[in-house]
Amino acid sequence: MIAKRIKNFLPRSLYGRAALILLVPVLVVQIVVTIVFVQRNFEGVTRQMVSSVALDVNFLLNEVAENSSLKPIQNAQERLQLNVRPMSDMADNGNQQNWWDVSGITVISALNVYVPNVQWVDLKTSTKVVTFAVRSPIGPLIVGVPRDRVSVSNPHQLLVLMIFVGIVTTLISFAFLRNQLRPIRRMARAAEAFGKGQVVDYHPTGAIEVRAAGDAFLDMRNRIERQIEQRTLMLSGVSHDLRTPLTRLRLALSMSDDTEAGAMVRDVEDMERLLDTFLDYARGDALEKTSAINPNDLAKTAVENAQKLQQVVSLSEASKEQLVDLRPIAVARALGNLIGNAARFADEISLSVSLSERSLTYIVEDNGPGIPKNDRETAMRPFIRLDEARNQNKGPGVGLGLSIVADIARTHGGVLLLSDSETLGGLKAELVIARRRDE
Ligand SMILES: Nc1ncnc2c1ncn2[C@@H]1O[C@H](COP(=O)(O)OP(=O)(O)OP(=O)(O)O)[C@@H](O)[C@H]1O
Ligand SMILES: [Mg+2]
Repeated sequence: MIAKRIKNFLPRSLYGRAALILLVPVLVVQIVVTIVFVQRNFEGVTRQMVSSVALDVNFLLNEVAENSSLKPIQNAQERLQLNVRPMSDMADNGNQQNWWDVSGITVISALNVYVPNVQWVDLKTSTKVVTFAVRSPIGPLIVGVPRDRVSVSNPHQLLVLMIFVGIVTTLISFAFLRNQLRPIRRMARAAEAFGKGQVVDYHPTGAIEVRAAGDAFLDMRNRIERQIEQRTLMLSGVSHDLRTPLTRLRLALSMSDDTEAGAMVRDVEDMERLLDTFLDYARGDALEKTSAINPNDLAKTAVENAQKLQQVVSLSEASKEQLVDLRPIAVARALGNLIGNAARFADEISLSVSLSERSLTYIVEDNGPGIPKNDRETAMRPFIRLDEARNQNKGPGVGLGLSIVADIARTHGGVLLLSDSETLGGLKAELVIARRRDE
């Protein structure tokens, strides 16, 4: 509970955390040194200095008391840098001291200890001179002592130096830290891009551990690329080898005047279409280059293509005419798949385009039966056709359509969402595409 709360306050980025790890010890050292320094050293030294000055002061005061006059000590005063005069020109204001004068506290308390009969100490009127009043047999006396004889001059210099050096070294280490973290960020970027199907240039750099992770990532990326390649090769090989005999079969059937031939030709055509779907799936769309496209144009083309297949789609375009970076053939195929699905189950279909700062969304809605909530995840998996009953007489299919669309959404840094259509009552399929953010 408490650990969790502390966690919320800690920085989330590696950079922030490393900075914290760096900063905390430096700060702690500075604070500890400051406290110890002020308390021990500083107070001790001040006390010692006051005690040695007190010897001189006490000696002079003794002389004054014995002679009952200031005259005999005139010479000694000058040599000892002390100034003793009768208290006629100064009022009693009690102890006075500037708030920032840390050593002043010690000076006052030490004077009271080492010099008998001190009445008040004034450190405020002059910062260069310590003035204090003492009682003596010839009346109250004022004693002036140069401040640098009772406390260390410029005591803050060490602290200022320490803080300054601390800041400078921290800044330098920040710069080094940045350099150390850059390779990790570069690797993260390469991995993220690969997740979207882009292969960006990446060479492992930096510390051994980061480099090892980078090498492992490259190995993994190469292996996945090889596998995709093999899958494509295999499927396209099979499709190609099957297509030739199918074409021959179709030709032979169209020549024959068998009454069953028409149905058989349709079957063969269905098989050819299935092969095409397999090929599409296997090929993937990661190889296509992205280009800047007006999303409304893609939607218009998709609607026109649907019309050629006697499917009626009402279109509502995005109000803004902006270009979006995407793979046009892949997105067109995704729209084709969604509209094709809708056309199989419904007679009213709508396609709408909406464009925001961060994403482009195509929404295909229909008035068909929709997909029950629990089946939506499953429907997006490859080779899944849900219950056969609903698909009867709905044409051939292998159950790849939605998974291809989901794949295309993923390679665009987006997602395919299935839900209920509020306007038409059937399925609502949202194809979200992330717009590239400027880094
Ligand atoms: N608009 C829709 N309305 C109702 N059910 C749908 C809709 N779209 C898809 N489905 C259901 O989801 C299943 C999976 O769809 P998907 O597009 O992946 O495969 P398919 O259309 O059967 O085959 P393919 O697209 O590969 O020809 C379909 O079989 C169907 O049961
Ligand atoms: Mg389909």
